Amino acid sequence: MQNITDQTLKFYVESNTQTDSDLCEELRSKTFNSMEFPEKISGRCTAQLLKLLINISQARFVADIGMFTGYSALSMAEALPTNGRVITCEINPKAIKFAKQIFAKSSHGYKISIQQIRAIQLLEQVSTPLDLAYIDADKKLYPVYYQKVLEKLKPGGIIVIDNMLWSGDAIKQETDRGKILAQLNSLITKDKRVENLLLAIDDGVQVIRKIT
Ligand SMILES: C[S@@+](CC[C@H](N)C(=O)[O-])C[C@H]1O[C@@H](n2cnc3c(N)ncnc32)[C@H](O)[C@@H]1O
Repeated sequence: MQNITDQTLKFYVESNTQTDSDLCEELRSKTFNSMEFPEKISGRCTAQLLKLLINISQARFVADIGMFTGYSALSMAEALPTNGRVITCEINPKAIKFAKQIFAKSSHGYKISIQQIRAIQLLEQVSTPLDLAYIDADKKLYPVYYQKVLEKLKPGGIIVIDNMLWSGDAIKQETDRGKILAQLNSLITKDKRVENLLLAIDDGVQVIRKIT
């Protein structure tokens, strides 16, 4: 997605944020060289945020909702301890094939379990409380994913949701997606079960902590 933030600011912020591993760099460059709609890939600052949150919270069991070529899944796996696990879902077989080839080259790849199912099915299957979930699949279903993830999250657990500014349309609300995301931003902000912060990095990232 196009970012709302000015390009000079984005460049400065990325230049002063730690860089990806060599394999994540390779994943990004191959995604842009070989996949349709490569801009679906998560932003670099969002990936670094996920890694920081995993390290700070000492998360072990993580869900990645919408894998694409595996950038967020691999970034999170790299931050997890040896007994950490990422469960992820994707419905595009080409993206799954791509990600599997990259994960096979990573010493953290064993932590990632890929399921070729819809996000809602993945969330229904989760039986262990999640420490952290990253939501980045079908935007129209974000409100459903939010409620479902919250149910599956342990108290103190963290939810990160991407594209919550939707290139500024969450503010202007000129598209259906913009309206849905604006309503969700408002719902989360009023939700007494959580505390949150909407960060204006990349395409807008909601960071949410479940209180109880
Ligand atoms: C924005 S991309 C995810 C980017 C990824 N998190 C990354 O870091 O590169 C969204 C992905 O979700 C997948 N997707 C869309 N609807 C889905 C659904 N209902 N269940 C599972 N995956 C879905 C799409 O095929 C797409 O690859």
